[in-house]
Amino acid sequence: MMTSERIDGFFTLRGGEFNEAGKSATGLKKALREQGYELEASRRAAVVAFEAEMNVIIHAVAGTLQYSLEDDEVKIVVIDMGPGIPDVAQAMKEGFSTAPEWAREHGWGSGLGLPNIKKNSDRLVIDTVPGEGTKLEAVIRLGRSSGDGSAS
Ligand SMILES: Nc1ncnc2c1ncn2[C@@H]1O[C@H](COP(=O)(O)OP(=O)(O)OP(=O)(O)O)[C@@H](O)[C@H]1O
Ligand SMILES: [Mg+2]
Repeated sequence: MMTSERIDGFFTLRGGEFNEAGKSATGLKKALREQGYELEASRRAAVVAFEAEMNVIIHAVAGTLQYSLEDDEVKIVVIDMGPGIPDVAQAMKEGFSTAPEWAREHGWGSGLGLPNIKKNSDRLVIDTVPGEGTKLEAVIRLGRSSGDGSAS
């Protein structure tokens, strides 16, 4: 039986700053793979982290991304300082986007990030207060690629 080492990450994000984008997702996927988690689930965790990170960089002022692994589940928590999402149901729809021109020039703004986060998460909670900020919490259950077959 494999024992999990702790996997934790904490990143600060700033609106408009692409430079560091993707580091959290890449690091998370690599750490999960190194501990023997299956590729498919590791990829799902990376997609969720990346899309949530990009949403802060594109739509928010600043925020943080944190991930942690416990009991074969990755929890990704992304908190930002606003402006919040006025209508979450609308924001979750494929194709809905308020991405500004500068982000569209970089290929963002298809309105697919949140739907993708939803698809790739086993649990997703979005708490948002317009004018204050948004907290996104996603959980991805992982499987071992070469485990002992016991489900947990
Ligand atoms: N952290 C956030 N703060 C404020 N608004 C957000 C945030 N995340 C998402 N939104 C709103 O929800 C909309 C849909 O988000 P989604 O990630 O699905 O698409 P997108 O970011 O516009 O485009 P894509 O992700 O395809 O590049 C955004 O256009 C924006 O209006
Ligand atoms: Mg997005």
